Amino acid sequence: LMMSEISEFRVLESQIKDKLQLDHVIVVPGNTDEQQSVKKALGKACAQFLSKIITSDQTIAVTGGTSMAEVAEEMNPLPEAMNCTFVPARGGLGEQVENQANTICAQMAKKANGNYRMLYVPDPLSEDTYHTIIEEPAIKEILELIHDANIILHGIGDALTMAKRRKTSQDILDHLTKSQAVSEAFGYYLDHEGNVVYKVRTAGMQLEDLEHADYVIAVAGGTSKVEAIKSYFEQGKSNVLITDEAVANELLKGT
Ligand code: G3H
Repeated sequence: LMMSEISEFRVLESQIKDKLQLDHVIVVPGNTDEQQSVKKALGKACAQFLSKIITSDQTIAVTGGTSMAEVAEEMNPLPEAMNCTFVPARGGLGEQVENQANTICAQMAKKANGNYRMLYVPDPLSEDTYHTIIEEPAIKEILELIHDANIILHGIGDALTMAKRRKTSQDILDHLTKSQAVSEAFGYYLDHEGNVVYKVRTAGMQLEDLEHADYVIAVAGGTSKVEAIKSYFEQGKSNVLITDEAVANELLKGT
């Protein structure tokens, strides 16, 4: 990076920080939609940020998705953080194995020399099974770890893109369209104003839990996600955004 490029991004970062009322914003060059290498850069920026903020004995909850998979890929040992534990934020959301939170969490822990715990719940969960399963001692123990996570790492997706990728039923697709869902994160689907219009029934983190964490870090890039990112931040539950230059410029339009 040229010096001028770095300072240019610093200005972008602080403008977005002000606009979305965040504690930290990191912008990497390019547009994720146009180059796969930009998603890698997002992953690297997130892994580096994590290594700066993490301390010993912390729990890190992670979601699924391709952006999180890149974070795992770029993760390095965390010498400042002894005895950290990675957990999946929520149970299965209908993703393919390589995009599932369990898979990504195990890979992150391996690369970071940390511990990990898995959350094995059927996917999807019926209402009855949900209530029974969250009372199982082995599940309960990991759910407590998840609810008390110090750091949360998550992706943000375009609502319909995510629903289709997860082979969501036509009923629910219709509901998402009718209720004008724009974004998806943690299996929650939100409209333009950040209202939850649908939530995948699975065990694990609930939107309210985000308030207890010190850092809730969103990793999302590509101009196809601009409206989703805006919608997600209307909820205002994450305090760190790691994104790309193309999104950053779009987010600032109209200010
Ligand atoms: O949970 C997944 C995210 O909402 C987005 O996934 O990183 O593959 O775009 P992605």
